[in-house]
Amino acid sequence: MTKNRNQDLLQQEAKVVAPASRIKYFDLVIKSGQGAELTDENGRTYLDLLASASATNTGHCHPHVVAGIQQQAQQLIEYTPAYFANRTTAELAARLAKLAPMSGPVQVAWGNSGSDANDAIIKFARAYTKRPYVVSFTGAYHGSTYGSMSVSSVSLNMSRKMGPLLPGVVRVPYPDVHDRLQGESESAFVQRLFKAFQQPFETYLPAEEVAVILIEPIQGDGGIVKAPQKYLELVANFAHQHGILFAVDEVNQGMGRTGKWWSIQHFGIEPDLMSIGKSLASGLPLSAVIGRQEIMAALDAPANVYTTAGNPVATAAANATLDVIETENLLERSQVLGVKAEQFFVQTQAKYDFVGDVRMYGLNGGIDIVDPKTKQPDTERTTKLITRIFELGAVMISLRGNILRFQPPLVITEEQLNQAFAIIDQAMFDLANDQIQLPQNAAEIGW
Ligand SMILES: Cc1ncc(COP(=O)(O)O)c(C=O)c1O
Repeated sequence: MTKNRNQDLLQQEAKVVAPASRIKYFDLVIKSGQGAELTDENGRTYLDLLASASATNTGHCHPHVVAGIQQQAQQLIEYTPAYFANRTTAELAARLAKLAPMSGPVQVAWGNSGSDANDAIIKFARAYTKRPYVVSFTGAYHGSTYGSMSVSSVSLNMSRKMGPLLPGVVRVPYPDVHDRLQGESESAFVQRLFKAFQQPFETYLPAEEVAVILIEPIQGDGGIVKAPQKYLELVANFAHQHGILFAVDEVNQGMGRTGKWWSIQHFGIEPDLMSIGKSLASGLPLSAVIGRQEIMAALDAPANVYTTAGNPVATAAANATLDVIETENLLERSQVLGVKAEQFFVQTQAKYDFVGDVRMYGLNGGIDIVDPKTKQPDTERTTKLITRIFELGAVMISLRGNILRFQPPLVITEEQLNQAFAIIDQAMFDLANDQIQLPQNAAEIGW
């Protein structure tokens, strides 16, 4: 035993936990969390700028969510909604149906994870349309089940050694701002990318055989990258013209993260189906697919049941989470603090030549770190930065090797946010002055 309780636990754990289940960043063992603050096993505190991968938008252990969980746990922990109803779960279904960004009647089907909610999108879409093919996008992360992995394309480790994946999936290029050519206008970029989208349909993919197009309107793990408005309109119109369902994955970017309930609401486009999860139950395992009623009626039980999906404790947490988002005006808070964060990162752009593109949608940002000379992605500098940010007391990770992921709980106080800015600025200053060592395990860090 050493004096470092984090290290002791990690060494014990490494003997019994498979490496595929953790993406490596820091040697952190979290003992407790409160709001936007974490405490590790050694008693050190950190500002949480990751919110458990956007799964705790209401902050850690929000008292109202804790009370909701406690009350429900005393009354009924589990009876599977796959057999019998309970009031807590039924109430949540009604609230979500109301919140869904779709006109006309919608229905909800429960899951345990964002991954299985995306599987459900494929199931319901195929059943309703009686068509086999699914279109998804490069850079997408939709999850870790076979179905959701099959529509993802963000890491080779998500298909390597595990194929063949689900058949009938075609991936088209996401309109990622990083792929915009120098001097290319947004409208020229949109036209070029929409042409690339259409290409499969003109050469080998009969549109009348495609069930669904699944997209993250703002990609999360792909680098907090927003699709251009016009592009999404073109794709949604194309879908509707060809009887293809238009589905959005809101698992990462939903639940107020972008300053609206759902990221698709920034575009004024109605999806036919959507998947939600993560912050839905403030991090308890709960997801849902929500879809137009006639689509959801296309399958009969037990086509999409899981014993613990819609579990009453998880749905009590979700009801309390919705209460908190509403009563604490977290949508507005996300917008207002997001503007503050954007101002801060734009200032760092002017101060440090390695800060590239800054994208902020609500309290939700991707900040590119680049080689000052070539302006190319700079993974080494990014790893140094997140390492120093961690040493200075904040938890922030990278995406795609060179993008800072900024997703604090939406309840973070202004004081904490200013502290976070001070830490990031100090780390950037240290990087600019070549004061940061690359960690020995740098090659293992990140996605
Ligand atoms: C956009 C998106 N969809 C789906 C998932 C998968 O959710 P889960 O990890 O709960 O299965 C994630 C997880 O990061 C995600 O970001």
